[in-house]
Amino acid sequence: MPDIAFINGRFLPWHEATVPIEDRGFQFGDGVYEVIRTYGGRPFELEAHLNRLDRSARELSLVQPYTREQWTAWIQQGIRDAGYAEAKVYLQITRGVAARDHAFPSNIAPTVVMTIRELMPFPVKIRESGVIAKTCEDLRWGRCDIKSVNLLANVLAREEAKRAGVFEAILVKDGLVTEGSVSNVMAVQSGTVVTAPEGPRILSGVTRTVVLDLAKAAGIPVREQFLPVESLYTADEVFLTGTTVEVLAVVQVDGRRIGDGRPGPVARALATRWAALTGSSPLL
Ligand code: PDD
Repeated sequence: MPDIAFINGRFLPWHEATVPIEDRGFQFGDGVYEVIRTYGGRPFELEAHLNRLDRSARELSLVQPYTREQWTAWIQQGIRDAGYAEAKVYLQITRGVAARDHAFPSNIAPTVVMTIRELMPFPVKIRESGVIAKTCEDLRWGRCDIKSVNLLANVLAREEAKRAGVFEAILVKDGLVTEGSVSNVMAVQSGTVVTAPEGPRILSGVTRTVVLDLAKAAGIPVREQFLPVESLYTADEVFLTGTTVEVLAVVQVDGRRIGDGRPGPVARALATRWAALTGSSPLL
């Protein structure tokens, strides 16, 4: 089955899909992106992702060249043509191609890229046992709410986690937990789900919003507040949310066991509700 490439309004064969070397995404990380996954072949929370793409672009004064209708039609066409059971759609808008100069060039057209790849389901065994995480210093800039392709600090943190043989890097800024390198982080304290508030320190995850709504609907109290890293170690539960991880329990952080070292009841309840909402198989 083909992986589908799309550049500036045109689908084309994968090997023909290239971008000029002076694209500002390549030279400056001057661009924004989204990762959307399908459930049952349909893009999940498409509107929320496209809203966030618009917002990220606006915050960087990037031209968003396509309408909602165009994006929706192309994403659906790409998913259909790729033909995968489940797909991961990557969208990227960069400021475009120009001779290298930091300030915005005038009269520049954005470069828009979309790829559609096969989505491999997260291994159920790992989901059932939960994952291990380590904390890393959050070295990112002051606008983490923008989903920018400038991901160097996330890349370094994720690599640190990989080298330590653990699943996720939990980022800590001034002693407070912000989020994961590719996910949002939630803890459970005395039955309340606690997670960092929206704002410049975190990416407001589409999954985060859905999971907080699921928690509220289930009568589970939610508190949006930064958690000191020490409180993470003593939390009853810790779990991650994100497009790729869905709802994923963390059972150990920095070598310290969380709860009884198994996915806890709140994470399990939310994962079950997530599965019901998305039509996927129960996660825990
Ligand atoms: N990342 N925080 C960060 C830093 C992320 O990179 C992501 C997702 C999330 C979760 O957001 P959402 O629920 O909207 O997927 C939180 C994507 C998947 C990526 O970069 O591949």
